[in-house]
Amino acid sequence: MALTVLALESSCDETAAAVVRNRQILGQAIASQIGLHGPWGGVVPELAAREHVTAVNRVLAETLAQAQIPWAAIDGIAVTAAPGLIGSLLVGVSAAKTLALIHHKPLIGVHHLEGHLCSVLLTDPQLDPPFLCLLVSGGHSSLVWVPAFGTYQILGQTRDDAAGEAFDKVARLLGLGYPGGPAIERAAREGNPYAYPLPPGRIAEAPLDFSFSGLKTAVRRLCEKFPPEALPVADIAASFQHTVAEALVQRTLRGAEQVGATTIAAVGGVAANTHLRSRLQAEAAAQGRRVVFPPLSLCTDNAAMIGCAGALRLARGQISPLSLAPLSRLNLTDSDQLYR
Ligand code: KG4
Ligand code: ZN
Repeated sequence: MALTVLALESSCDETAAAVVRNRQILGQAIASQIGLHGPWGGVVPELAAREHVTAVNRVLAETLAQAQIPWAAIDGIAVTAAPGLIGSLLVGVSAAKTLALIHHKPLIGVHHLEGHLCSVLLTDPQLDPPFLCLLVSGGHSSLVWVPAFGTYQILGQTRDDAAGEAFDKVARLLGLGYPGGPAIERAAREGNPYAYPLPPGRIAEAPLDFSFSGLKTAVRRLCEKFPPEALPVADIAASFQHTVAEALVQRTLRGAEQVGATTIAAVGGVAANTHLRSRLQAEAAAQGRRVVFPPLSLCTDNAAMIGCAGALRLARGQISPLSLAPLSRLNLTDSDQLYR
């Protein structure tokens, strides 16, 4: 049965809404806060929460106008409930509860990473688990084996910084703006990826885990060797980007081999990176594995992915109580907690 879900996402610095009918996006709108946080070099939680309050009604109205759908046709209200910035999450969750209460619809709290994972289902409506998912965003980096929707086996994860966080921190060291990922990608276009060998952060006892803090320190030491006006920004950006991409590709392929995955999905903000996409595509193809990437607009935070996850939870009869409280931290493998 086709389920139509209105979804909200406000876990970090985007206020987003979408109407999704199973795997089809009927309408969506996003208000980005990049301009607000840019001057601070990162997301300021208090500012983010206040901006969500200002934006949420406008984003909702725009989404509903686009979707052209009566309330009677909406089967549920999905919202990112965890993990994220608590003040930001609270805005989306409060708005979703209000809508659920007024319109007598079930409320479906969604784990933000399950949302990212579902972005690939919106990309390829024929795709179903099992697949291996490289989930790389600003707050998380993990390699997840998905034998079935709702069943997650974490094969590897970061020991310290997330991949996106490393991009953001290195961009700051190089004097590039926020968010760091797109800025590094732009700078790297003019650079030599082999100019400076950097540590890939291997962990001998856990070969599928990631570590990016040593890499960030190595970049800082490298930067200190140059006078600020002579910093080889493009070469450092390209070398850093290449090192991160190789670390991610190598672990992903190793994981794919381990579980026998024929399909690999790469999701989250860092999966928007063109260099990572082409390296993963090439290496996976050489092993006869297929890679699915969401379009760039579905890699970074959006509500359509939350709606897709919400529809799948709703189809299983999983709804959240109206007492649902947002959580700043929650493991993906504990997502079922949102439905008790
Ligand atoms: O998934 P996302 O929008 O938000 C979180 O859930 O964290 O990811 C944001 C992260 C930021 O760290 C940003 O620098 C990174 O994704 N990012 C990129 C690119 N676009 C965004 N990293 C590398 N290359 C990109 N093109
Ligand atoms: Zn995200």
